[in-house]
Amino acid sequence: MGTWNKRDDMLVHSLDPYNAEPSPDALAGQPITPVDTFYSRNHGHVPTLDPATWRLTVDGLVARPLELSLADLREKFEPHTVTATLCCAGNRRAELMAVRDIPGQTPWRSAAVSTARWSGARLRDVLAAAGPHHDARHVAFTGADHATSLDPPQPFGGSIPAAKATAAEVLLAWRMNDEPLPAVHGGPVRVIVPGYIGARSVKWLQRVTARREPSANHFQALDYRLLPADADPAATPPGAGLALGVAALNAAVLTPAPGAPLTPGTHTVHGYALAGEHRAVTRVDVSTDGGTTWRQAVLDPPAGPWAWTLWHALIHLPPGPAEIVARAWDDSAATQPEHPDALWNPLGYLNTAWSRVDVVAG
Ligand code: MTE
Repeated sequence: MGTWNKRDDMLVHSLDPYNAEPSPDALAGQPITPVDTFYSRNHGHVPTLDPATWRLTVDGLVARPLELSLADLREKFEPHTVTATLCCAGNRRAELMAVRDIPGQTPWRSAAVSTARWSGARLRDVLAAAGPHHDARHVAFTGADHATSLDPPQPFGGSIPAAKATAAEVLLAWRMNDEPLPAVHGGPVRVIVPGYIGARSVKWLQRVTARREPSANHFQALDYRLLPADADPAATPPGAGLALGVAALNAAVLTPAPGAPLTPGTHTVHGYALAGEHRAVTRVDVSTDGGTTWRQAVLDPPAGPWAWTLWHALIHLPPGPAEIVARAWDDSAATQPEHPDALWNPLGYLNTAWSRVDVVAG
């Protein structure tokens, strides 16, 4: 067992803050990711909170501010379970960095994504108990950790529109894959916002605040934003660029691994595809000649409307080098852009380009 009870073969980008992604073949073909395999993205030290003394404050534009213990959440609100994929907005950043460097950012490969069964209370039920004002258009979250990259360190936080916060799928979760939520994944309680970038699923939740405007937290106002390619992130004012929220259509090859020595002949390619919020993956195409010709992958039925679509395809490799390429389509017939060059952005978010893996048969 590695750090935080993760598998030994995790790719650990940094130990503190702990940032690690599983080996892609550990994700392949597994609709639910075991906890020891689930990626983890942190901006500060993982706080150790005592579930017995933990309290959640619900405040802001509400008629009745609340202070809730974990026992209150369990006893006063109906429990719900949602199977949801979390995907970091920086997933596949390494491919953007190969286009042009992105200093100071983690070079995530294609496994900063995982799927779990999350159980807890609906955020909308908790908000209803507090009685939000009609002009509370956003709901902000604050975690107990402090981002060590900021001077002075600041708590991690963010917000989502009230329309999403009151959707049935958004949970305050205290269980992950039917076990108590581990500390590294935000225990005792975290937010789960299915269909949104992972950053909005705030861990070690301390405070839920109903607001007129989006959160002013660094990770909403200045980070997790899509800046134009020519912007200087150090010189952009709060609110510049596009605040990232809803997830985008994406897909990646999980196996074979890049550079894998393969025998000429038939092989199975495994991968995942994710659709944007309220969209479904309808087709995944796989090519072995860099995208000149394509065949369709077999799609596994997803574990629920908020879970990824796993897929596999049989390919035939003649002797020599081959470029395996995958791209997904959604139910609006949208597909992914061909090259990461067209998507490069200064903070390195949302690389949704065709997934490419070079292999050699022979
Ligand atoms: N919440 C807090 N409090 N602190 C964090 O650093 N990281 C966010 C989000 N919630 C973060 C957080 C990001 S960027 C992602 S992708 C997900 O948590 C990762 O969740 P995981 O570590 O459970 O995989």
